[in-house]
Amino acid sequence: MTVETALCLLAAGKGTRMRSDLPKVLHQVAGLPMFAHALNSGKGCNPSRIVIVTGHQSARVAEAAQAVAPGAVCVEQSPQLGTGHAVQMAAPPLADFEGDVFILYGDTPLILPETLERMAGKRRAGAAVVVLGFNAADPAGYGRLITDDNGGLDRIVEAKEASPEELQVTLCNSGVMCVDSRTLFRLLDNVTNDNAKGEYYLTDVVGLARAEGLACAVVECGEDETMGVDSRVNLAEAEAAFQNRTRLAAMERGVTMIAPETVFFSHDTQIEADVIIEPNVVFGPGVHVAGGATLRAFSHLEGCTVHSGAVIGPYARLRPGADIGENAKIGNFVEVKAATFGKGAKANHLTYVGDATIGAGANIGAGTITCNYDGFNKHKTQIGAGAFIGSNSALVAPAQIGDGAIIAAGSVITRPVEADALAVARGIQANKPGLAAKLREKLKAMKEYRNKT
Ligand code: UD1
Repeated sequence: MTVETALCLLAAGKGTRMRSDLPKVLHQVAGLPMFAHALNSGKGCNPSRIVIVTGHQSARVAEAAQAVAPGAVCVEQSPQLGTGHAVQMAAPPLADFEGDVFILYGDTPLILPETLERMAGKRRAGAAVVVLGFNAADPAGYGRLITDDNGGLDRIVEAKEASPEELQVTLCNSGVMCVDSRTLFRLLDNVTNDNAKGEYYLTDVVGLARAEGLACAVVECGEDETMGVDSRVNLAEAEAAFQNRTRLAAMERGVTMIAPETVFFSHDTQIEADVIIEPNVVFGPGVHVAGGATLRAFSHLEGCTVHSGAVIGPYARLRPGADIGENAKIGNFVEVKAATFGKGAKANHLTYVGDATIGAGANIGAGTITCNYDGFNKHKTQIGAGAFIGSNSALVAPAQIGDGAIIAAGSVITRPVEADALAVARGIQANKPGLAAKLREKLKAMKEYRNKT
């Protein structure tokens, strides 16, 4: 029998220490709001329901939640009376749900899907409550997991209530739990706020379950996974941890990175094996790079596809909609937006290509600009296969340049150029023999006259 899964994400907290107008859980790690990282990990468990508990700036969080998890139910917790109270808010939308409820925190973005899978495994093995624990280097304010002689979980003690011996325990509560739904909401009804903080502690469900003779278990993970974000310093630490994890995974998949610590990925970057990434490359969202491509130093890529054998950079910028074909070359100080480069096409230096289609093998000379915007509308440029665009040309869109056409350097192209035609669209050069020397003499004489008078 397959067990259904629900996610209950706690995202009500204000996050005072972030010192921000933006709700804490909407701050981003690798370009994605923190709470969405937690949800994405949870999605590995194929949840049939997602409930998000909002509080501070509830409407704003709910709107962001719909973008990431359409169909998620948002419930508002007001006032916020503790983690147990927060989970109780999910009881009405889950009233008809039977299965496992995963409780995740919106400010804990680094939990791995495989860790949640291990927790589900313990549930299947018979534990009513499974808690994710970690050995803390500095346990400080974390709840302590008190285990019994058989390694089962006996209870969770919050730091404020812990005895000196209990405070010696380094196995701490991450806050993530997996609980049978019926058990969870039944036990939460019996949780009180008779404690040091005057809050309804979710953690009390462990002791209550044990009192009913139910088994509770701990799954352990590394401290890096359970890192919670309370401040901008924590946010930077979470970003660094995410980047390190992603760099290692890329190298393990066969990506060469010369200085991995200088390369920054987005949450969704897709890089195939045998890509070479030079130092200081930055990825925005939506990038796919096929095997055999080379990304040279100081390039910035976002919303684009790079095909096999293409070479990007150094110092290139690929913006959304750039599609760089097999063995194509985009060189230094070249910006490409919403443009397709065919197989082997080249723009090697100092060029802007926007809203364009570049045929296979075309060569775009240094300083070429597609003039795609008239201040109101964007217009398209089409460059045929094998065309040659001389340096410093302005292609005023809509522009059509046929296969094999040649554009003379410095041209301003305003009319279509048919295939194999040579287009010259610039002032005609006139050489006046000796006139430079004469002009120099005249200017010199004028200056001397001015200096005397
Ligand atoms: C909680 C745990 C503690 C654990 C720690 C890990 C309890 C009683 N204690 O501590 O054992 O070691 O997390 O970080 O559960 N939240 C709400 N509504 C509330 C209160 C909290 O949505 O009324 C959310 C917060 O936004 C946050 C999460 O729950 O995402 C944890 O709250 P926080 O106050 O940080 O944790 P503690 O209760 O101190």
